[in-house]
Amino acid sequence: MKKKLLYGQVGGSLNAFIGGVHRVGIAFDGRAQLAAGCFSRDPAANRETGEFYGLDPERIYGSYTEMAEAEGKREDGIDFAVVTTPNNAHYAICRAFLENGIHVLCEKPLCFEVSEAEELKRLAEERGLLFCVNYSYSGNVLAKEARHLIRSGVIGDIINVNAEYLQEYLVDDVGAGDEAMVKLSSWRKDPAVAGISNCVGDIGSHIENTVAYMTGLKLKRVAALTDTFGQPLDLNANILVEFENGAHGVYSCSQVCVGHMNGLTVRIFGTLGAIEWVQENPNVLYVTLKGQPTQIYNRGMGYISPEAAAFSRLPSGHPEGLYVAFANIYKAFISSVLKTANGEPLTEEDRDYPGLDAGIAGVKFIHACVESGKRDAAWVEV
Ligand SMILES: NC(=O)c1ccc[n+]([C@@H]2O[C@H](COP(=O)([O-])OP(=O)(O)OC[C@H]3O[C@@H](n4cnc5c(N)ncnc54)[C@H](O)[C@@H]3O)[C@@H](O)[C@H]2O)c1
Repeated sequence: MKKKLLYGQVGGSLNAFIGGVHRVGIAFDGRAQLAAGCFSRDPAANRETGEFYGLDPERIYGSYTEMAEAEGKREDGIDFAVVTTPNNAHYAICRAFLENGIHVLCEKPLCFEVSEAEELKRLAEERGLLFCVNYSYSGNVLAKEARHLIRSGVIGDIINVNAEYLQEYLVDDVGAGDEAMVKLSSWRKDPAVAGISNCVGDIGSHIENTVAYMTGLKLKRVAALTDTFGQPLDLNANILVEFENGAHGVYSCSQVCVGHMNGLTVRIFGTLGAIEWVQENPNVLYVTLKGQPTQIYNRGMGYISPEAAAFSRLPSGHPEGLYVAFANIYKAFISSVLKTANGEPLTEEDRDYPGLDAGIAGVKFIHACVESGKRDAAWVEV
């Protein structure tokens, strides 16, 4: 019986942003250990990171291809690979690990093209491999509780959605021309690395996934006004959405909204009530039933459903946040990998992580928004 897994990481050198959050998230439950890596294309940063984590020098690889092949052949090879590079490298890296028989968890957005995302799904299915796309907000206990309440019919039929993800960190780019590219140069603003979108791809995609996770609704079409403010890619987007059930909604994502840091807020309106969840205050959920005052659900209390409470780690009143959301994505994914390795069946709780269908939906959403933006907010099928 396998009780512990080994994992390898691509990207996420010591100076990177999200790679370290993954390592902390995985460490929460102590069921997987870092054993291999190709943390950077810069050899010094790669070595420094591997040494910092005490890796066997022969498992600090110069390239992801070398790593995928070598780890796929080893008796004690990694059980899963964690892909935390910028967007342009996701597809080729994921493909390399799948082809070498290794389960994968990849950052969002999954890849540039819908056809690439679909190819990863085909490959994973063909080889019986598990795949998680890290839409991390679905790891929050109260995002799970929102899903539970909506599934239980507490707010009735969904008739409107209003969701936003607002940041301010690129406001200096507005009207700043080329100088801003130099001053605030970041791969997120470079089409060769980020893909066809900056703002919609980076944070609009989180709105799309969080709403889809909570409601189970599928997007039918979008009409997007995108603003580049003279930069190569969008920094702001206001998007009308239509779901397959006929309901409509508004998604607003922006990197130029002064006063907002990481403001993901999701409001779901039904015939019987409404639910609101705010990422920056993730330990509470607002539930309003028609004709009644708003109730505040607190994470960790006895009234939280067992399916959401299974992911709660601290008593109520002790804030949980982004690290725990990551830990919860890994809780489900690692359980699934462990059980698969041991030939055990997976439960609903094990499967509670975003998979390749979520990844494909995200890439389709980005393409539809960008296409609509180019056509002056014409409706585009997702
Ligand atoms: N789920 C979330 O909440 C969330 C949050 C932030 C970032 N992300 C996603 O995570 C990814 C990484 O973002 P980041 O902000 O950490 O970027 P970053 O630039 O801070 O880090 C990227 C890392 O990848 C390394 N790298 C690049 N190409 C490589 C290659 N071919 N082989 C090995 N290493 C390579 C870089 O050296 C660096 O260490 C992006 O896809 C981004 O969209 C997701």
